[in-house]
Amino acid sequence: TKLEMFVEDLPHMPTVHGFNVVNGFLKPKSLQIGMFFKKLKFHRDLPATPVFAYGASERTATVPGPTIEAAYGVDTYVTWQNHLPSSHILPWDPTITPAIPKHGGIPTVVHLHGGIHESTSDGNADAWFTAGFKETGPKWSKTTTHYVNKQQPGNMMYHDHVLGLTRVNLLAGLLGAYVLRHSSVESPLRLPTGREYDRPLIIFDRSFRRDGSIYLNATGNNPQIHPQWQPEYFGDAIIVNGKIWPRLTVQRRKYRFRIINAGNARFFRFFFSNGLDFVVIGSDSAYLAKPVQTKSIILSPSEIADVIVDFSKSTTKTAILANNAPYPYPSGDPVTEENSKVMKFIISDESVSDTSIIPKKLIEYPPADVSSSVRTRYIAMFEYVLGNKPTHLYINGLPYNAPVTETPKVGTSEVWEVINLTGDDHPLHIHLGLFKVLEQTSLVNSAEFTDCMTKELDAVKCQISKYALGNKTAVTAHERGWKNVFKMIPGHVTKILVRFSYIHSNESYSFDATEEPGYVYHCHMLDHEDNMMMRPFKIVK
Ligand code: C2O
Ligand code: CU
Repeated sequence: TKLEMFVEDLPHMPTVHGFNVVNGFLKPKSLQIGMFFKKLKFHRDLPATPVFAYGASERTATVPGPTIEAAYGVDTYVTWQNHLPSSHILPWDPTITPAIPKHGGIPTVVHLHGGIHESTSDGNADAWFTAGFKETGPKWSKTTTHYVNKQQPGNMMYHDHVLGLTRVNLLAGLLGAYVLRHSSVESPLRLPTGREYDRPLIIFDRSFRRDGSIYLNATGNNPQIHPQWQPEYFGDAIIVNGKIWPRLTVQRRKYRFRIINAGNARFFRFFFSNGLDFVVIGSDSAYLAKPVQTKSIILSPSEIADVIVDFSKSTTKTAILANNAPYPYPSGDPVTEENSKVMKFIISDESVSDTSIIPKKLIEYPPADVSSSVRTRYIAMFEYVLGNKPTHLYINGLPYNAPVTETPKVGTSEVWEVINLTGDDHPLHIHLGLFKVLEQTSLVNSAEFTDCMTKELDAVKCQISKYALGNKTAVTAHERGWKNVFKMIPGHVTKILVRFSYIHSNESYSFDATEEPGYVYHCHMLDHEDNMMMRPFKIVK
């Protein structure tokens, strides 16, 4: 039986403020956010689904978790508390995770994705803890994380980050939005504001069993190596803010949507069924210099698009937010009828006054200055297969736990040439640093180059410059801002400029970025990062 589309109203996620207001001044705040096992309704006609949910209490916990609203320059402290039961609600694969507690329980650790903060608060993949901090991973150091909120305003996401369990912990529901506002910088922009007109849309795909539980294939594609691991999770139903194919009645005016792809492996290519435009104002955690109008937006897992949609421009009474990205992206299956619909907007007839505007200019950050780069690094993405089926993925041929090879100097910029030797697009995400995409060039004679790389694991030795001579794919206008994740096209070299300092000021980081345990960069397809498409990096002085 199929679930009826567009019968659930789009929920508002609860909001938690990451600051106190004392006599009109914003002051630091300490939050306690728990992780709870509970049941939630994703659809009218589906029994309640067992989930892991973030919230201040079990009663208020939601999937996605509450949206944390933080203020520029005001510290937010969060004690993330694991109240999860002794065993997981989803099958997990002990051969891909080093996080196996001796006394049971579910390892968790929270990463604020897009956050620029100390590494001890960064949710290192080995810094896990179980319920009551009973057991902790080798890189765990403290119970309370500290988000300094000194970076540019923008959109982030908090989510679980345990190596080998991230995919199941997020599938179970451990993710939520985090919005950093800088009102003196943002108010003059006069963008749509307020709870009704400025809304996160947190989107992911899931499959459900008839009893409401989340379905995840429990048999690996190479079960003799990894009994449970599958290279990509794709679900049939599309969920926005915790409801399957919801609807939202909107006025004929401008709305701001902070669209987060919180899926494990699904890319979305969003468009409106009635041809409405998106006006993109930010990507990932930073504003663009000026708005960019577009008919479609491709978001890989964890990419964020901050957009304005002007429903007064609609010529129809309804508009479906639709998706037509093949899965896996870009050369997998075409979307099904179910995956092709995201949510429905019902556009009311009355005209309303709308004082918000789409400004000509947004926020100007430094351009990508390649001459400022202190060095070039080559980052190669490999997939290993057995009988045509992936067994694991590595970056530079190295597992996550091999010694650190990337040691950027704090305050510098570097060029990274990311070489994708696999057949799929991988979203590369870098913690701490922000980057600009400079160019994407296809490899000529890529089989020959891949052959050499497989043996030598060294792009310079394999003469990358002789192969990176193919066609260039232009970076889409709305993707030319500072980003923290981007799509690495298969068979291409993607050249990025990574900046290990703030982009909005010349001040150096307000914390010591050189501390242990350091940071990571990885593919953000969760099933890939869990099976080792992740590497550490260390910031040095
Ligand atoms: Cu969104 Cu390292 O993660
Ligand atoms: Cu990947």
